[in-house]
Order: sequence, then structure tokens, then C-alpha cells
Amino acid sequence: MCGIVGYVGSRPATAIVIDGLQHLEYRGYDSAGIAVLQDGAIHVRRDAGKLSNLIKLLAQQPIDGHLALGHTRWATHGKPNQQNAHPHSDASGEIVVVQNGIVENYRELRESLQAEGIDFRSETDTEVIVHLLALNYSAAGGLAEAVRKTLGYLKGPSAIVAMTSREPDRLVAARLGNAGGVAIGLGSGETFVASDIPAILEHTRRMIFLEDGQYAVITPAGAQIATLDGQPVAAEIHDIPWNPVSAAKGEYRHFMQKEIFEQARSITDTMRGRVDFDSGEMILEQLRLSRERARSFDRIVTVACGTSAYAGLVGEFLLEHIARIPTDVDYASEFRYRDPIIDERTLLLAITQSGETVDTLAAVEEARNKGAFVVSIVNAIGSQAARISDGVITMRCGPEIGVASTKAFTASVVDQYLLALALAQARDSIGPAHRRRLVDDLAHLPRLMGQVLDQSPAGNAVYLDLAERFHGYRNFLFLGRGINYPIALEGALKLKEISYIHAEGYPAGEMKHGPIALIDREMPVVAIAVQDSVYDKMISQIEQVKARHGIVIAIATEGDDFIASKADHVITVPKAPSLLTPVLSVLPLQRLAYEIAVWRGADVDQPRNLAKSVTVE
Ligand code: AGP
Repeated sequence: MCGIVGYVGSRPATAIVIDGLQHLEYRGYDSAGIAVLQDGAIHVRRDAGKLSNLIKLLAQQPIDGHLALGHTRWATHGKPNQQNAHPHSDASGEIVVVQNGIVENYRELRESLQAEGIDFRSETDTEVIVHLLALNYSAAGGLAEAVRKTLGYLKGPSAIVAMTSREPDRLVAARLGNAGGVAIGLGSGETFVASDIPAILEHTRRMIFLEDGQYAVITPAGAQIATLDGQPVAAEIHDIPWNPVSAAKGEYRHFMQKEIFEQARSITDTMRGRVDFDSGEMILEQLRLSRERARSFDRIVTVACGTSAYAGLVGEFLLEHIARIPTDVDYASEFRYRDPIIDERTLLLAITQSGETVDTLAAVEEARNKGAFVVSIVNAIGSQAARISDGVITMRCGPEIGVASTKAFTASVVDQYLLALALAQARDSIGPAHRRRLVDDLAHLPRLMGQVLDQSPAGNAVYLDLAERFHGYRNFLFLGRGINYPIALEGALKLKEISYIHAEGYPAGEMKHGPIALIDREMPVVAIAVQDSVYDKMISQIEQVKARHGIVIAIATEGDDFIASKADHVITVPKAPSLLTPVLSVLPLQRLAYEIAVWRGADVDQPRNLAKSVTVE
């Protein structure tokens, strides 16, 4: 997804914008550029490839000033090259714009602009925006009004920021639909704009988040917000609780590595203040769900994508077992196309770390239109999902920078556990003693996770050994059963998305219905075989793999001496209540995927073709 950073104030702007873009590199991109107002004129520097190329270009051809706008582009229309990189300028070079999202009607706009004699210099959809701004500017009497009018021509989700040499003290930002966030940072005598919090967090924690259909005039004094039909908006100023350090790598080699190892702490943060371990009560203050409404639900439908969908599959077990409510999980990208049967007795649960995934947001809109009560489990503060939901449970795991989701996964599983307990409390689904036990089980979770996340040389040895042995294999099969079946899916996704090794997750019982044909010495099998109600079945699956000369890496329970006689390699996790084992059994799979990817020299934090938040369909 594209990254945007803008600055207006009294400090040198180039370094602030470039540093901000570096904090957004994790979002995935393939070209970068910056526009700076210097000596009354706008100067643009752009290049394909990584930000380092732009930094080199700036060293050769420096520009600086107090108004600047930068962008990292994830190509949708037009190859990743210099002329398609943002910012884009109008013919006069006096107006520039950057965009996140897609202009769905750009062809017809481009044709009508070309018919008026306007030359296009790029293959992008974005360029139509800057030419429309130029066309509207004089009649509109200024950039803000030109932006407001221009957005009226656009179809599709867009987040844009524009500047002009004619108005040296401002940027104008606007948001249309769900094309990723627009955060406005309020400094003293300076103001920032960015597509995500980490880009500007070191400068200010006071932020405003633009909503769909709003635009902002951004000056050193602050930001004036209005709707696109011209109504002023008194926007809420959020005080971001994250500190800049939590958005930095620290002593870790990659953000993903840091985020894997901080999960014992992040789970503690997820639970803090929400579980009254004395009374056993849940305190989910943003859920905004009345007891009466909670008792009215006859089903839960969970919608999410990728890792968040797999967290939802774990949650299905938690919600059915604890809250006793029938629960289905649907890929958000499929949900709205099957005309789902949803009504006011449905609880729609959306799980989304970024809160900006366009498929998940569209699924939420679909469910809202059919009367469902919508709860979002979200990590990113000020994101669209939180705004359009009836109730919110934040993951509180701090900024997740690595494209491959790790701590957000475990946080969203625990959030569903808390939701299930809150629903059980409201509906008297299970007895108080049973509920009490389930609450007590949570207290041990961070300690148990810490045991699996042992970073000592002894704790790392098994992963380094397995990475050395298996980094060259081209295919993996992950098998799990019951509540650990989704963990097999998640483990396969982790491996494939950062190491580019083909990996499939499968319900273990399905292996004999096809995948067993694949088993041979060239296809390692990771089997989650913790000591739970389906352990014996997993042992027989492992035997079936071994009988066909397969290689088995087992995730087992500490103290299980038997499994070593069955599997080739064993990684253990502490014994835990069955409903919480997924939070433990996923950790070795995250670590294994990470070490294999490092062995392969992969770009762990920014895997090719991937984005941290998918804001295009
Ligand atoms: C997970 O490692 C992937 N990066 C991806 O599947 C991600 O989980 C998915 O795009 C959903 O993102 P969200 O949670 O921000 O909605």
C-alpha cells in the first residue's frame, strides 16, 4: 500500500518527509518521490525502487524548504518507474499531488482531459487528479476548493494530499472511501500529514484522522477539517498512546523478529484493565453492547482476510464453546458476494489489524445495511473499521510494522476469548464456576508464551538447526486438527509470505483425501500434535506420513516423550488449557518461518508483492 508524508512548518522539510517515508517502508512499495517548495517554486525528485535510490538522488540534487510532500508507491496502474512515481505535477509545475487508492474512472477522465489538449506524462490513474486540480484552481479560487471540487469527479477510494507554489503555507488533504488512513499530526508551529501513525509519531502524539468524505487545510497553525459538501467538522484530537520506541526496531534485526518476541508483553497489554481477575468480570468499555442486545443474538459471523481470518477460525471454537453461540467465519472478500443471510439478530465480528482492509470494510458495510450489530477487533488507532462499527475491541499490541502479522494474530485470538467471556456473562451461557476457571486460565498465558519465546542460545538452537536443514525445500505441508487446524493455516501463510516457499495448511483429517499423494522426502510436514482431545489422531497422521518416507516436524507438549519416537524433529510448548493452546502453538511456527526466511536472505519485513494493509480489491 502507498505511503504518504507531508510537512508544513519552520523546520527543513526534506529530512522530515524522507524520515517519515522510511517509517512507512514496511507497507511495501516499488518507487518513491518528494516535492519541496524552494525559492518560490516546487522541485520534484522521484525514482524507481527503494527509498535509498531517492536519497541518493537527493544527495546529488538537493532540495529543501518548509513545505514538502513525499510518497512511496505500490504500483496499481503503470509500471514502477521514475515517471510513474508520485508526486505528479500539472503542466505548469505549480501544483503537485500524491495519492493512495485507485481512480476507477480514470480512463474516461484521461480521455476528456486529453481532448482538452492536456498532455499526460505517466501511465498512472493519479495524474488525472493533478490536471483536474489545475483546471479547477482558478475558478475555485484556491487549492482547498479545487480539491473539494476535484474529488467530485473521482470514483473509487482515494486518499490524496496536494500542494501548490501559489499557497506556500499549506497542504490540502482529502479522503474518499477506504484507501488507507490520513493522519494529521499537530505540532507546535508545524503540522504533519501521513498515511500511518509511525511516520510522524516522533514529532507529535496529537493526531486527527480524516474520515471518508472529508478534507483538511493543513497549515503550521493546525488543520481545518470539513466535509466535501463544505460543512465544517470539529474533528476529535487523539492522543496516541504508542511511544516512538515501540515503532522502532531496537536491537532486533527485523520488525517481525521484534514483534514475535514481544508477544508475552503485548498479550499482557491486550488483557490489562479488561479482565477483573477478582470478580471474573470482563470490562470491554468500547464494546457498547447492552445485555439485552447481547442476549438477542442467534448467530455470529466473522469476516476477515489472511491471518486475521485464521484468528477468526480459532475464535469460532472460543465463541461456540464459551458463549454457546453458533459462529461462522467467512473470507471478507467472499462474504458480500454471496448475499449473506444477516439480520439484527446477527453479531458481525470484523477482525482487522490495520482497520483499513478494503474487503473487510466492505463486508462490514454489507452487514450493517442488513441490520447486524458490528464489532471490530482492530489494532490501528483511528482506523476506518473502528469508526464504522457499533462496538470495538482494540488489540492494544502496539504498532505492527512487519508485513507478516504476528502479535496482532495472538492479540485478536485473546480478544475473541474476552468477547466470548463477555457474551457468556451477559447470556448466562455457562455456569459461574466454569466461567471463573476460563478467566483464571488467562492469568498464566503471558508466562507460558514467554517460555516459548525463549531467545537464549538454547532457545534459538532448534530453530536455527531446522532453518539450516529445511530452508532449501520448495514445498511444505502444515497439519492441524480441531482448534489447531487454523494454526496450520497460519503457519503455512507465515512461511509462504516471507520465505516464498510454497506451503499449504490442511485439516489433518483431510490428508488421506488427497494431499497424502504429495508426501515424500521432498515435502516436510509440520504437524501440530499437542496433548489435547485429538492427540491420538494426530499421532496416527504422523505415522501415515512416516510410512510414506515423509519428514515430520512436530509441535508437541512439553513432557511428551512418546512423540519423539514418531516425529523426526520436535518443538515443544508448555501444557495449557486446550482453548489457549493456539496462542502457544502458533509461536514456534512464527519463529520457524522467520529463521527460514532469514536463511534465504528474504526481505522479511517487506516481502515482495505484499502490503501491510490491502486497500485495493
Ligand atoms: C498476514 O501476515 C498478512 N500480512 C495478511 O494476510 C493480513 O493478515 C491481511 O491482509 C489482513 O490484514 P488486516 O488484519 O489489517 O485486515
